Amino acid sequence: MAKPSHRYVCQNCGAVYPKWSGRCDSCGEWNTLVEESVEARPGPVAKAAPGKRVAFVGLQGETAPPPRAATGIAELDRVLGGGLVPASAVLVGGDPGIGKSTLMLQAAATLARAEKRVLYVSGEESVEQVRLRARRLGLADAPLELASAINVRDIAATLEAARDVALVVIDSIQTMWLDGVESAPGTVSQVRAAAFELIRLAKSRGFALVLVGHVTKEGTIAGPRVLEHMVDAVLYFEGDRGHQFRILRAVKNRFGATDEIGVFEMTDRGLAEVANPSALFLAERRGNVAGSAVFAGLEGTRPVLLEVQALLASASGTPRRAVVGWETGRLAMLLAVLEARAGLRLSGLDVYLNVAGGLRVGEPAADLAVAAALASAAADQPTSAGTVYFGEVGLSGEVRQVAQGEARLKEAHKLGFDRACLPRRLARGGARPTAPAALELDEVGHVADLVAAFAAESVRAA
Ligand code: TYD
Ligand code: MG
Repeated sequence: MAKPSHRYVCQNCGAVYPKWSGRCDSCGEWNTLVEESVEARPGPVAKAAPGKRVAFVGLQGETAPPPRAATGIAELDRVLGGGLVPASAVLVGGDPGIGKSTLMLQAAATLARAEKRVLYVSGEESVEQVRLRARRLGLADAPLELASAINVRDIAATLEAARDVALVVIDSIQTMWLDGVESAPGTVSQVRAAAFELIRLAKSRGFALVLVGHVTKEGTIAGPRVLEHMVDAVLYFEGDRGHQFRILRAVKNRFGATDEIGVFEMTDRGLAEVANPSALFLAERRGNVAGSAVFAGLEGTRPVLLEVQALLASASGTPRRAVVGWETGRLAMLLAVLEARAGLRLSGLDVYLNVAGGLRVGEPAADLAVAAALASAAADQPTSAGTVYFGEVGLSGEVRQVAQGEARLKEAHKLGFDRACLPRRLARGGARPTAPAALELDEVGHVADLVAAFAAESVRAA
């Protein structure tokens, strides 16, 4: 039977269909199916060579840890698990304009300055544009080898002949083009084929390969997700455009943990490392203000402390509820719980809630911190400056346990907090996290207790 010469490939997840449809059944995205021609498969090998025996070994044995080339950018190195591993491929994904090229140019130049051979292939920008950026970043003197190219065959031939290369950066994989694949650059077929070729070279030639990839929601260009299984590590660069900080997050790492995030601050001279992110997010916090509570949160799996701010004002007309950085629905629920279960009267008041710093919090664990901020605002009593809060609040007002209590407590301790307000079960019996001894644990079973404590404080102050 003749094979169909065309197929439809979801540009979001890579699922393949014989017919077009409006929605991808695999990932549920709309309008992501694009017609691509079926790649000519290599025919059966003319004379099959006999297979070689595969040697099996035991689990024990000496394996040296992979030698790593530290990029010199500590936040990046940590997310990588200690630096770039030779003969490995890393995908750095993120929204257009988020700072991927800047980050990779900084890393490449730093490595080049450390007398490693680094090749930077830009398919998006001209040599002149990259030079301009390097000058702006103060990196123009780095002995980096720069090229503007998109033809993978040419790049491959060059890399095949190059000696002692430590790092090759491809910016971006979506601009790469491999002849023989009859799809436009940026489609799943092209991106996959180009990445496959480059990764194969990285493995055989022994250099570390960084593929920069744009995340796109429109689905017109293949997202990095179709490459995730091909590479050894996947890092995503994220951040809110209105704010200065950027987060580098490992979602996959064959040579390290995925629970690390790197935090950077955008400056006019490039990305600056933020060694202590909680300190950054808490930098502008003013103690002794009612309505502010510190939430011991998790970003991915890295603990981050954030300030939650609540403001209550008497409403003229229908009370307003305005939220930045948290879910409106969740706030409505929490307000209802505080009113029904803890007797906190907020219905005649405008409620404003803000997660300072611009980070969006998705965790239910923030409930207790929000409740504390609201109770503090209502009682006009500041939370104690050295206290962090975390815990989920249920509909009956009970405070529920959340994941990773230990990591949250450690971070709080590291930043000099001396008290944590947390769910009861977490702090009791066998499941008790090994909290730093200096940290006082204040267990809360019900939000009514929290509200009562602020109210009592208010009476005492009067
Ligand atoms: P760029 O690195 O080009 O983003 P991407 O490669 O992800 O598309 O950065 C986008 C713009 O932001 C660019 O004009 C440079 C600017 N920028 C700074 O000025 N400072 C910084 O620290 C960063 C990261 C970017
Ligand atoms: Mg770029």
